[in-house]
Amino acid sequence: MEIKLVENVKEVPCDVLIISKFKDKETTSDLANKFLPEDFECKKGEIFVIHTHGEQNAKYILVVGLGDEKDLTNNVIRESVSKAIKKCACLKAKKVAVEFNTDYNYGGPALLGASIANYHFDKYKTKKDHRINEFYLPSDVDVELVERAEVVSEAMRFSRNLSNEPAAFATPTKLAEIAQGLEGIETEVFNSAKIQELGMGAYLAVAKGSVEPPKFIHMKYTPKHAKKKIAIIGKGLCFDSGGLDIKPPSSMLTMRDDMSAAASVIAIMRAMAKLKPDVEVHGIIAACENMPGAGAYKPGDILTAMNGKTIEVDNTDAEGRLTLADALCFACKLKVDEVVDIATLTGACMVALGTAATGIMGNDEKFIHDIIETGKIAGEKYWELPMWQEYRDQMDSEIADMKNTGTRYGGASAAGMFLKEFVTDDVKWAHLDVAGTAFIEKPQKEFLCGGSTAAGVRTMIKYIIEQ
Ligand code: BES
Ligand code: MG
Ligand code: ZN
Repeated sequence: MEIKLVENVKEVPCDVLIISKFKDKETTSDLANKFLPEDFECKKGEIFVIHTHGEQNAKYILVVGLGDEKDLTNNVIRESVSKAIKKCACLKAKKVAVEFNTDYNYGGPALLGASIANYHFDKYKTKKDHRINEFYLPSDVDVELVERAEVVSEAMRFSRNLSNEPAAFATPTKLAEIAQGLEGIETEVFNSAKIQELGMGAYLAVAKGSVEPPKFIHMKYTPKHAKKKIAIIGKGLCFDSGGLDIKPPSSMLTMRDDMSAAASVIAIMRAMAKLKPDVEVHGIIAACENMPGAGAYKPGDILTAMNGKTIEVDNTDAEGRLTLADALCFACKLKVDEVVDIATLTGACMVALGTAATGIMGNDEKFIHDIIETGKIAGEKYWELPMWQEYRDQMDSEIADMKNTGTRYGGASAAGMFLKEFVTDDVKWAHLDVAGTAFIEKPQKEFLCGGSTAAGVRTMIKYIIEQ
């Protein structure tokens, strides 16, 4: 989708001109003011389409309700434009223009909304999905905000594309290659020998059952003057079969998405190189596959993580926390101020919160609060889950420092308590369990297609650039 800023949007010969309708305010179109039905309630995202029959440069005028102008937010604009774009696709539109009669800076969120709704993963289809390919905005929008929205849109597209890929494409080696190709980012990749040398025994064990070699990926963005150091870790299970504790077919079906957090971390690092915040940012991925091959790690094995703590393998399907344990140790050794891990970690989190919210846990209330608040503005929901000793007690082991799973209940919090064992007290840490939010099986919210959603991307980019 090409973005064009033009002086007079109404003069653009396009398929659809999207205009706003606020409560108690006329639109800027005589045609719309005349034909808008009385029962148009002006609800957020409500749509009415008018055919201009050649009387105007646009073939259709699409009126989108935006509620009360004084209550306008980026979220209202983004979601309403997303819905409008879906409608444009039904009208087979290629060229779409947007003009809202408000002083609110709508350019950025409008572009982001359009880009999210216009996304399809059709790389492997011979007949491609319909797409809007030209998007017009008036040139008096805040150009800087539009450019930032374009970077965020690109990051989301990149993350969604990579995590929608089959596991045969998005292997640990492929992720490492992609990370190494990022412009403006320094990337180091460690192979099995180096991973072993660093003492990452928990991570390495998970990788043992696969023919795909593990790749530990460390990306770094360094500004001239860093106000802060932040590490973002993404769970990078390029496929999670469950290992020897193999998953049933229905649960395994979407497990190529078990690296969607890793895809998001690569996307965030790419965005850093473009947005250039005054923050040193480390992107860390312990990439591997969890497979039941002949070399696979086994229930009852005892693993030693990088910080020396020992783990009894209770269930080989609780593999994400093993890879993250070593990644967290590594991040803490970098002496960062804050570390965030993003992970499709537990089905339990999905059961608790559904696909509506990401579970958040951590060791610092203010840090957690700041991420939740950033998410609200960025349009991603987070819900804090408890970190109580009771959840840790479930994982006591007779033969090691801990087991990798607890009871059937409270699984998201237990996983959080497990990870906490690998974080040092001097680092603020937040854990985002995106199991429910990163990948949706069916289209959602009228504009998100099935598959990857790029969970965490919008929140983390916003959080970092606002430091
Ligand atoms: N990758 C899964 C978690 C998951 C489940 C992500 C559903 C997305 C959708 C994770 O590795 C896993 O298998 N977790 C187990 C842990 C259990 C064995 C304690 C789970 O949640 O069932
Ligand atoms: Mg698993
Ligand atoms: Zn997993």
